[in-house]
Amino acid sequence: MSIEIQNLSYTYDPKAKFKKIALKDVSLSVEDGDFLAIVGHTGSGKSTLVTHLNGLTKVQSGKIIVDGIDLTGKFDAKKLRSKVGMVFQYPEYQLFAETVQLDVAFGPKNLGLDEEEINVRVKDAIEAVGLDFEQIKDKSPFELSGGQMRRVAIAGVIAMRPEILVLDEPTAGLDPKGKRDIMELVLSLKNTLKTVKTVIMISHNMDEVARYCNKVALLKDGELVGVYTPAQLFEDDTVEKCGLKLPTTVRLARVLKARGLIENDCLLTEEEIVAEIAKGGRHA
Ligand SMILES: Nc1ncnc2c1ncn2[C@@H]1O[C@H](COP(=O)(O)OP(=O)(O)OP(=O)(O)O)[C@@H](O)[C@H]1O
Ligand SMILES: [Mg+2]
Repeated sequence: MSIEIQNLSYTYDPKAKFKKIALKDVSLSVEDGDFLAIVGHTGSGKSTLVTHLNGLTKVQSGKIIVDGIDLTGKFDAKKLRSKVGMVFQYPEYQLFAETVQLDVAFGPKNLGLDEEEINVRVKDAIEAVGLDFEQIKDKSPFELSGGQMRRVAIAGVIAMRPEILVLDEPTAGLDPKGKRDIMELVLSLKNTLKTVKTVIMISHNMDEVARYCNKVALLKDGELVGVYTPAQLFEDDTVEKCGLKLPTTVRLARVLKARGLIENDCLLTEEEIVAEIAKGGRHA
């Protein structure tokens, strides 16, 4: 078991008059190999939940165990951060070093690795995110395009060689092609890097969730509504009741089904829609 969260509750400013309860009694397990989406309306507690996983938010009530490390009370923060890599929202805003190479090296340096190991990791990470190491290493991060900057920021996390990669809305602010490219990158990191076993992604984009994730945790007002496969979650109106949209493919499939053009309406990818239409054509 990779991550076990039990009865986790969290309140911002617990002593304040208007304290803000961000998580209520959330229990969730994430297994090795999962590509888990965390979804929910704005303010439902998604970021509060994931920032617990690298120790940034301290456990107040409940229990979290990450790959044997108990986050309740004292724990080895360095060890945890080498296991759990966190890509924050708009991570390119956190680039700061003079060159791409120095920026990506920042995390591994903090792990106290020797120079040779740092150099290998930096090169591997930059290549893993689909950039040309020789071409880009000495550039300033600020000379790059938005998409390249985001890739460099992700490389900085990958260079720590985490087993668990957590991303808070990795495609926010990108155009449709940029969104697809980043999602394909995340999938390829999970499938091709030996180090990254598990991905946890916060997303507002149900099309991405439907296409890429095997599990979805739905939050509402700090509570876990449930954990589903995308097919289970999108077969009825549960997400709509939580203020989210159904995936485009599911909405399209419902229209096509209502017109008698296809039989199945819980279709999660464009390819599934095309296949279902082709089937319908054969029946007609
Ligand atoms: N630093 C903070 N101080 C006080 N309240 C906070 C703080 N951060 C978040 N909250 C509140 O806690 C609740 C959960 O916030 P959180 O950021 O975890 O939600 P979220 O699901 O990530 O939202 P979004 O989709 O907007 O990113 C919200 O009501 C939010 O206003
Ligand atoms: Mg958030």
